[in-house]
Amino acid sequence: MAKLLALPRAPTALQPERPRPDAIALDGVSRRFPGGAVALDEVSLAVREGEVFGIVGRSGAGKSTLIRTVNLLERPDAGAVRVLGRDMLALDDAGLRAARRSTGMVFQHFNLHTRRTVAENVAFPLEIAGVPAAERRARIAELLPLVGLEAKHDAYPAQLSGGQKQRVGIARALASRPRILLCDEATSALDPETTRDILALIRDLRDRLDLTVLLITHEMSVVKAVCDRVAVMEAGRIIEAGRVFDVFTRPAHHTTRSFVAEVIGYDVPAATLARLPLPTQGQARRLAQVLFTGPHATRPVVSEASRRFTLDINIVSGRVDEIAGEPFGVMTLAASGAAADVEAAFAWMRGLGLQVTEMDA
Ligand SMILES: Nc1ncnc2c1ncn2[C@@H]1O[C@H](COP(=O)(O)OP(=O)(O)OP(=O)(O)O)[C@@H](O)[C@H]1O
Ligand SMILES: [Mg+2]
Repeated sequence: MAKLLALPRAPTALQPERPRPDAIALDGVSRRFPGGAVALDEVSLAVREGEVFGIVGRSGAGKSTLIRTVNLLERPDAGAVRVLGRDMLALDDAGLRAARRSTGMVFQHFNLHTRRTVAENVAFPLEIAGVPAAERRARIAELLPLVGLEAKHDAYPAQLSGGQKQRVGIARALASRPRILLCDEATSALDPETTRDILALIRDLRDRLDLTVLLITHEMSVVKAVCDRVAVMEAGRIIEAGRVFDVFTRPAHHTTRSFVAEVIGYDVPAATLARLPLPTQGQARRLAQVLFTGPHATRPVVSEASRRFTLDINIVSGRVDEIAGEPFGVMTLAASGAAADVEAAFAWMRGLGLQVTEMDA
């Protein structure tokens, strides 16, 4: 048996001791816009309390329509919507207003009032709800430190960076003490570093306030950074869903694979391939991408395969990364030797629990 180096396994937030109840449950939800395409096509989805659940999909997939269905900004034509145990479609106006207060919403373009200060923006939903001024002030004093903006109380949106504006958006969404945060492309207008800060803030708030977060994005890197589970949407349907680690390491649908490839970077540049030594006469050279998801490190496996099966193995690319706290490694190998030996080496690696996917050489 090869000497395999164990990568540490971090505990994940994904598998609580006992599954918590669903915060959001959509069942067979459909929505067709008049004269338009089907935006939602029998979507069923359950988001458990306390999780950060991502919805990823290309433009027009139906993501915004889906998230707007959760608080009934968009009414479905068919299906059931349950939020925190309530049948949303059965609520009267007062009930719906109360239900909406338990779901805060964060937008891509922040939607701040330019003539209101930070404090006044955050207080806006409370004003609408008729909360007295003293109580509003007290709530703002709690909210601004939570998002790191206590120094910006009296600033106007024009004086803030994009990340700070989104912090105002998040504080405003939290003003009515919601249990659910709905984020529609909340980081899509931000640069990568600010995106990381805001995603870290969202996760931190989830932990501290025990929020449930439904987060929509077209970027798999966002899902990787912040989500526990993910659903992939295409043409109004959910084509794949599961734990982020599983979806990234074992994508089933080709659309998911293309999303994942953007982050994992399976592709090897043609110039790199061209520099590989050519196989000698009568020998085979095959390329494979090897994914290590268990307690396997990379080098001992490669050197042992090379020895056992008398192969030349070039590591074309490789890296170790982490998804939702779980480590994985991905490597592209070029294996040269007798065809049967290359085959046997790949089979041996698969036997160790590695995923071996052959690529065009
Ligand atoms: N109010 C509307 N009237 C008519 N068609 C609409 C309306 N809103 C959305 N659609 C259509 O429904 C489909 C899904 O739109 P939706 O906004 O939910 O997609 P999305 O995944 O959020 O896209 P993006 O990533 O661009 O935000 C699209 O074909 C869109 O054109
Ligand atoms: Mg959208």
